[in-house]
Amino acid sequence: MATGSILVTGGAGYVGTHTVVELVEAGYDVVVMDNLVNASMESMRRVNEITGKQVPTFSIDMLDKEALRDLFRKHKILCVMHFAGLKAVGESCNKPLLYYKTNIGGTISLLEVMKEFGVYNMIFSSSATVYGSPSYLPIDEKHPVGGCTNPYGKTKYFIEEILKDICTAEKQWNVVLLRYFNPVGAHVSGKIGEDPQGVPNNLMPYVSQVAVGRLKELTVYGDDYDTPDGTGVRDYIHVVDLAQGHVAALKYLEKGCGCKVFNLGTGKGYSVIEMAKAFEAASGKPVPYKIAGRRAGDIASCYADASLAEKELGWKAKLDLAKMCEDLWRWQSNNPTGFRTES
Ligand code: NAD
Ligand code: UD1
Repeated sequence: MATGSILVTGGAGYVGTHTVVELVEAGYDVVVMDNLVNASMESMRRVNEITGKQVPTFSIDMLDKEALRDLFRKHKILCVMHFAGLKAVGESCNKPLLYYKTNIGGTISLLEVMKEFGVYNMIFSSSATVYGSPSYLPIDEKHPVGGCTNPYGKTKYFIEEILKDICTAEKQWNVVLLRYFNPVGAHVSGKIGEDPQGVPNNLMPYVSQVAVGRLKELTVYGDDYDTPDGTGVRDYIHVVDLAQGHVAALKYLEKGCGCKVFNLGTGKGYSVIEMAKAFEAASGKPVPYKIAGRRAGDIASCYADASLAEKELGWKAKLDLAKMCEDLWRWQSNNPTGFRTES
């Protein structure tokens, strides 16, 4: 590829920071932009510590086209890895306009500026949520999409459709849509990891905060699903594997690809109870739990057929459940209050 940088939007966030580390380690020049609505500059300071490089970081809102133009003037961008957006499902139900404006409006603003500067390469953070309630398992990329039950999920689906339409209309675009299953874990250094604001909505940040003593007990949402132990089954993927999937996707895109879709998962499902037990084993700490009713909008089981990514990208998740828990515990126990200092 010609010389220039990979622009990582939302690069100060959870998946973004881990991907920036992998990109730098793979030899890419990286530029980050993030409005820090769900992140802090401390995460980028840690990324710089891990990589030994100073990654240029811009505090910019993607809806601010003038600020984006300024960044594109300062740095020659070869490809945009687009992580920026809001991701809380519950909040999206209460504030749909905010989600449509930020995620969809922000992406359109970014795409327009990319076009102005002749940048036609994008890797987009999509989600298995676009599959809705699965009609078969494991879920491959041919599974129907669009049955999303919440505004967050719909933004992912709509953005995918927008990107597909652009690729159909303008042949110079190369777009890879990466549908993540459930990212967990943290960088092996214990310096970066997931840092949810307030009480976590997702399982593993909740479990790790119980183990570290910040929360009393896990609430298991339902034990009457049609799964081996009755609790929900998901495809948890180590965030470093996920990050390496982005590097593989970038190498694939560099050859010219049109619009392509890949699942990034392990292909293996674990239940809520299995996850809590694995975390107890990795941390040596108890994870007490109580059983409660099902969470609205939840599905019984969701796991990927990840064979297309292996075949076409030459990428496969390598890190197992024990490693996911071990690395998450290192991050959580070294940083009990995340990137914030203890108050
Ligand atoms: P995150 O919240 O940690 O990262 C997103 C980043 O985007 C944050 O740092 C936030 O400050 C930034 N941002 C938000 N609005 C912005 C705006 N208007 N302008 C600029 N920056 C903005 O989330 P994450 O877990 O790292 O997820 C990254 C992407 O992957 C998101 O698009 C998310 O929807 C998608 N995704 C995440 C998961 C998951 O479980 N973590 C699963 C599937 C898909
Ligand atoms: C959530 C999002 C989804 C997103 C995905 C990956 C919701 C409704 N959906 O899905 O849009 O794409 O994360 O980021 O938030 N669980 C408990 N107790 C808890 C938390 C979770 O029992 O305190 C259970 C859930 O019922 C589920 C499993 O753990 O069976 C995983 O939950 P979670 O981590 O929230 O991920 P998803 O439900 O897959």
